Amino acid sequence: MGDQETEKRDGMTDNSASVLPTPHEGLGPLARTLAILGVISLVYMIFIFAVPIDPWFPEGTRQAGEVDFIFRFMLAFGGAIIIYVQGLLITFVRTYRQHPDEAPDALGVQSHGNTRLEIAWTIGPTILVIALLAISFTVRADEIGPQKNPLQLYVHGYQFAFGFQLHQYGLTSDMSSVYLPINRPVYVSERSTDVIHSFWVPEFRIKEDIVPLANGGTTHEEFTPTRIGVYRVICTEYCGSGHSSMHIEDGIHVVSEKDFEAWVRSKGGVVPSHGVTTALLSHPTR
Ligand code: CUA
Repeated sequence: MGDQETEKRDGMTDNSASVLPTPHEGLGPLARTLAILGVISLVYMIFIFAVPIDPWFPEGTRQAGEVDFIFRFMLAFGGAIIIYVQGLLITFVRTYRQHPDEAPDALGVQSHGNTRLEIAWTIGPTILVIALLAISFTVRADEIGPQKNPLQLYVHGYQFAFGFQLHQYGLTSDMSSVYLPINRPVYVSERSTDVIHSFWVPEFRIKEDIVPLANGGTTHEEFTPTRIGVYRVICTEYCGSGHSSMHIEDGIHVVSEKDFEAWVRSKGGVVPSHGVTTALLSHPTR
C-alpha cells in the first residue's frame, strides 16, 4: 500500500465526516418532501375521483358507473404511489448526488433497516388490496346476481358474427341487432357454436367470454341499460381470420318501453299482455 492510497483513504474519511447531516429545526428535509408529495397526491386523487368519465367514455348502464369507480380507485391510489416513489427517487438523487468538492469514492451516512417504515409499507398496500378486493366483489356480484323481472337476451357467437334472440317475446331465430328497453335488467345468456368469442359492449362495461361449453352450456352477464342510444357489440377474443371484422356497429339499440314493444311486433314477436315474468331467474350454469 503506497502513500498515494493512504492519502486517498484519508481524504475519503474526511469527506464522510463533512457530509454528516446537521440537526434541523422543525421539519427535516425528508418530512418536508413527504408533505409536498402528500399535497400533490391529494390534489391528484381529488381530480381523479371528481373528473367525469362519461363525456369521454359514455356510461350506458348502471353497472358502468360501478366499474368506472373501480377504475378511479386504482388510478387514484396507483397514481399516488407513483407520485411518492418517483418523488422520493428524484429527491434522493438530488440530495445524495456527488457534490463537486467530494472525492469520487466518498461515502454518505450508512443506515440499515427501519422497522416503522417497513411496517407502514406492508400494511398500507395490504389495506389497499383488501379494499380493492371488496369493491370488486361487490361490483361483480351486481353483474351476475339475480335481478327482478329481467329481460332474457340470448347471444349466439359464431365465426364471424353475433346473433340475438329474445325468447320471452317469441323471437327465437338469430337477429343481427336487437332492441332493449331502457332501465330494465338484462340477463344475457351467451353460447358459441364453434370457437371461443367474447361479447363486449364498451359503453356497458361488460365483457364476457363465450366459451363453446359441452351440453350447450352458456355463460352469463347482467346489465341494466340506463341511456337511450345505439351501441357497438364487439368480439374481443381472437377467434380466427375474421375476428377483426366481428363487430356490429348498431348491435344494440336501447329504446323506450313503447318503442321496444313496437319493434318486437315489427319483428313478428309477441308482447305478453301481463309482462313477462316477475320471478327471479336462477343461474343454471356459471
Ligand atoms: Cu369472435 Cu373474435
